[in-house]
Amino acid sequence: MDYDVVIIGGGPGGYVAAIRMAQLGLKTALVERDRVGGVCLNRGCIPTKALFAATELLARAKEGSDFGMEFAPPHIDLPRLISWKEGIVERLVSGVEKLLAANGVTLIKAEAEISGPGEVSLSTGAAITGERLVLGLGSAPVEIPGFSFSDPVVWSSTEALSPDAIPERLVVIGGGVIGLELATIYSRLGSRVTVLELMPEILPGLDLDRRAIARVRAGLKAMGIEIRTGAAATGYANKDDGVVVNTKEEEFPADRILLAVGRKPNSAGLEKIGIELDRRGFVVVDENLETSVPGIYAIGDLVPGPMLAHKASADGLRLAAHLAGEDYPLDYGTIPQAIFTSPELASVGMSEKRAKEEGYTPLVGRFPYAALGKALGMNAPDGFFQVVADAKTRRILGVTIVGAEASDLISEAAVAVQNGLTLEAIADSVHPHPTLPEGLKEAAENALGRAIHTVNR
Ligand code: NAI
Repeated sequence: MDYDVVIIGGGPGGYVAAIRMAQLGLKTALVERDRVGGVCLNRGCIPTKALFAATELLARAKEGSDFGMEFAPPHIDLPRLISWKEGIVERLVSGVEKLLAANGVTLIKAEAEISGPGEVSLSTGAAITGERLVLGLGSAPVEIPGFSFSDPVVWSSTEALSPDAIPERLVVIGGGVIGLELATIYSRLGSRVTVLELMPEILPGLDLDRRAIARVRAGLKAMGIEIRTGAAATGYANKDDGVVVNTKEEEFPADRILLAVGRKPNSAGLEKIGIELDRRGFVVVDENLETSVPGIYAIGDLVPGPMLAHKASADGLRLAAHLAGEDYPLDYGTIPQAIFTSPELASVGMSEKRAKEEGYTPLVGRFPYAALGKALGMNAPDGFFQVVADAKTRRILGVTIVGAEASDLISEAAVAVQNGLTLEAIADSVHPHPTLPEGLKEAAENALGRAIHTVNR
């Protein structure tokens, strides 16, 4: 065999797995047909966050008048904004390539196909063999009847992250994570944005309490984004000045349509080599991420679970440990989620509702951003921290944060939830003042009935 492990797919699952496997002494090859980094780095998380940060400046400049700073209306040089974003992506891609090389991973740039047990044929004409094969093939956006990405008016997140113009009117189909993150960015860029969501509420697929969703919805509305729930998009028609998107009851004029109705695993054709798929097309794996074909493993968006880059990386690390005979315990219930909307929303572990469903008597503490000096100084008084603990043991079951920097603030909570820490562990740790993380400490104290800066009930 040429290698101990051959990994196909260089996204945040595959490249992280490759580096860790090489660190653990396995002779590892990574095959990728495109740039390393996958959707997340090239066409997903990273470009989205670059545009989120850049457009935040526009939002902040508008707020300037609240504290006596007036700015002239901005001029947005779109090609420069997009090439700045591309520069960040390129820097990270070349960083990943250097890390692969420095760790001794052989990077093969080719399209790969499994051609026999332990055998991979490459589009270069060569073939390589590996004791074990790992699939990190990722996922792709889905279409729905009446909409096709082959029409340039219909964007997926890929086109939305490299636009040639800022649409005056953008209709977003799908009030999920991608739809709402891009709605935030385009609204800041000046588009009139309407979001159509099939279900009765936005972000329907996530374990979140109503008040958190309501807070995000109110924030998006305050930006001028129109959100229609219970609105299933059925198709669109061309008009002289753009298109109209149809639901059963209404028509929504648009210059561009962003279709963000979910993603599907890139698993087509895997059944042919005997790999079992579930009815949604995800690869069925056992507790060691091994598929129904012995010696072939799958990670990331290809297998059931949250379609998140950091979950794919965690799969990769866990699999590397397993193949090297080491232990890497991972509780998938403690994988945090960060949503880059305005306000940001981040959560880890259980919502209050879920804790009740699981049979816990939840002890809940909350603390508003409006009571944090740091938040007021940032002119960011909207939002709250929520801690849910088990009343019996005071172990923290889940945390939700809605507000400024929520995506960065959730990591302290993730450590607490993953390690089974109690309310006291957070409440009795000294947090520097004045900072936003004080909100988590105060929420934990509030659950214990002893917050200082809010009235305990
Ligand atoms: P999603 O599953 O989060 O949301 C799709 C939404 O479209 C659902 O709310 C669904 O009810 C709605 N929908 C379906 N058909 C519709 C129709 N005909 N009309 C109106 N609405 C319709 O999928 P999304 O946003 O495409 O994201 C895909 C995956 O990528 C998710 O698993 C998400 O977690 C992940 N992701 C996570 C990010 C983060 O954590 N920050 C960022 C980007 C993606």
